[in-house]
Amino acid sequence: MVVLGIETTCDETAASVVERPDAGPGKILSNVILSQVNEHAVFGGVVPEIAARAHVESLDRVIGRAMQDAGKSFADLDGIAAAAGPGLIGGVIVGLTTAKAIAMVNGKPLIAVNHLEAHALTPRLTDAVPFPYCLFLASGGHTQIVAVRGVGDYVRIGTTVDDAIGEAFDKTAKLLGLGYPGGPQVELEARRGNPVRFLLPRPMHGRPDADFSLSGLKTALRIEAEKIAPLTDQDVADLCASFQQSVVDVVLDRLRSGLKIFSKRFGKPNALVAAGGVAANEAIRKILHRVAFEVGTVVVAPPAALCTDNGAMIAWAGAERLAHGLTDPLDIAPRARWPLEEVRRAEPERPGFLSGKTA
Ligand code: KG4
Ligand code: ZN
Repeated sequence: MVVLGIETTCDETAASVVERPDAGPGKILSNVILSQVNEHAVFGGVVPEIAARAHVESLDRVIGRAMQDAGKSFADLDGIAAAAGPGLIGGVIVGLTTAKAIAMVNGKPLIAVNHLEAHALTPRLTDAVPFPYCLFLASGGHTQIVAVRGVGDYVRIGTTVDDAIGEAFDKTAKLLGLGYPGGPQVELEARRGNPVRFLLPRPMHGRPDADFSLSGLKTALRIEAEKIAPLTDQDVADLCASFQQSVVDVVLDRLRSGLKIFSKRFGKPNALVAAGGVAANEAIRKILHRVAFEVGTVVVAPPAALCTDNGAMIAWAGAERLAHGLTDPLDIAPRARWPLEEVRRAEPERPGFLSGKTA
């Protein structure tokens, strides 16, 4: 099964062709990503209108390149998948409308993929991880702990009540005059900083649920920075290190709690899976290994290029859904907001049925 995937929910214009065999991991035939990071950098964050226009300007070329790299024509495809949300609605409309046009002209099925579902299914593309597993998704827009039980079968165990972790990194970077996106810069500064110089809060610590809160941490950091302004290079490094240490402690505590809830409800997870840009952070990765070890499971962290937004994850999620007969009508609407629990679920496979088919 060969599927084209289109991703335009944020600031990456991406397209990819992926092959899904009957068993085992997928094969990425092409994976083209055009980042708009330079267009947004001057504003210190993604500007939705600029993003939508940039998608319009480059999506055709990105898709053309993905098809060429894969050595396929539209006629060779089994389906066309696009991220239909959640995300910045202008961009989502561009990607989904383009996918609809390709599907209609070529008489191929359309698969409207939930962007979070695509992150959730990526470890099956890379490592064929069996269900159920526990997903820790941490990006600029999302912070969630999710039980992934099957295609379309997701149970959110924890989420942030305010800012996403990546957003907190980005805001910290902005406050300290570091560049955008902030995560990698804060991590770099933190390496030469003192993580115990500033005592910052550990929000939600010790609570039995698995929710996150990051906005108080950001405010506490601002207050500390204002107290000692003007900041020296060492001050900036120490603030970054103290901030990152606090996030690491919070992630450790929240994941412990989340895995406890997971195990109680669904049994031992087959893996703890990391997705989203924040998973590129080494200190956070270390923590993931620690909590996974504690519950006797393994960490699966797809390579950074597949953890952050890309077209391959959309193509793969499309292929997984297509294999279960989950296609969508051409008049399906894009969605700015689309919680994982509202994704349409595949019927469980029944013994005696052909594999991959459902009732
Ligand atoms: O998944 P992603 O590429 O895009 C979405 O937000 O969907 O994630 C980007 C986010 C940004 O907030 C960025 O600052 C953060 O991930 N990030 C990091 C690191 N690399 C990227 N945060 C902390 N440490 C990093 N090394
Ligand atoms: Zn994403």
